[in-house]
Amino acid sequence: MVIARTVIKIVLLESGLEIVPKELHTHPVVLRAAKRYNIAPDEMLLDKTLHYKAMETLPQKWKRGRPDIVHTTLLILQDSILNQKGFLRVYIHVYDGRVFMVRPETRIPKHYERFRGLMAQLLKYGKVPPDTETPLIKLEAKSLREFVRKHGKLILLWERGEPARAVDVVRKALDTGLPLGIGMFPRGDFKKSTLRKAAYRYSLLGGKPLKAWTLACILVSEAERLLDVNY
Ligand SMILES: C[S@@+](CC[C@H](N)C(=O)[O-])C[C@H]1O[C@@H](n2cnc3c(N)ncnc32)[C@H](O)[C@@H]1O
Repeated sequence: MVIARTVIKIVLLESGLEIVPKELHTHPVVLRAAKRYNIAPDEMLLDKTLHYKAMETLPQKWKRGRPDIVHTTLLILQDSILNQKGFLRVYIHVYDGRVFMVRPETRIPKHYERFRGLMAQLLKYGKVPPDTETPLIKLEAKSLREFVRKHGKLILLWERGEPARAVDVVRKALDTGLPLGIGMFPRGDFKKSTLRKAAYRYSLLGGKPLKAWTLACILVSEAERLLDVNY
């Protein structure tokens, strides 16, 4: 891997990643899924596909139980040439507020069930693999506030932000070294506390609602072009 001169940081914000919350552990739907996968509820990732009925009473349920969004986005980011050449750092901000750092050499399991297992382990032990001094994914900050203190305020991709071109947003990230933030939820908006942590908020394509992984593709390809890494 080439030593990067310039690194683009991307933080996956407000991800729907969490262990099944305690109040759902005895719900029949959760118990059935736990039996099917032979995993205890307190070691299982909340997943709307499996736990939809049990999630009916959860606050903010539209933002929760969506590991698939992080999975697809991470596959794109980690496999990108930008990352392979050492120009990318990816961080994951999860439901309880912690932020994890993904080492560039981390290969994300393509199989969704293996990914779910890996994320459940990460949330439980704070790193993966749990028994190593040099984890592939590890805790970077206990909260988004701490993350911003370390890395600077966010350049937020936000449908209601100031209209901008993707190339200029990436150039801003390169010029300032500030992390780019993409929302990892299927609908709805960022929390006010997240919006307040942004130094810049930009919307692309006239605010047309895009999928998180589409945003990831756009940002990566603009960065690869600007840094001329596709040779
Ligand atoms: C699927 S969207 C979030 C849900 C969306 N607000 C909705 O209600 O359909 C995922 C993320 O992609 C980014 N995003 C989507 N469209 C965008 C756009 N046109 N400009 C900038 N960012 C965008 C934002 O970071 C957003 O949080």
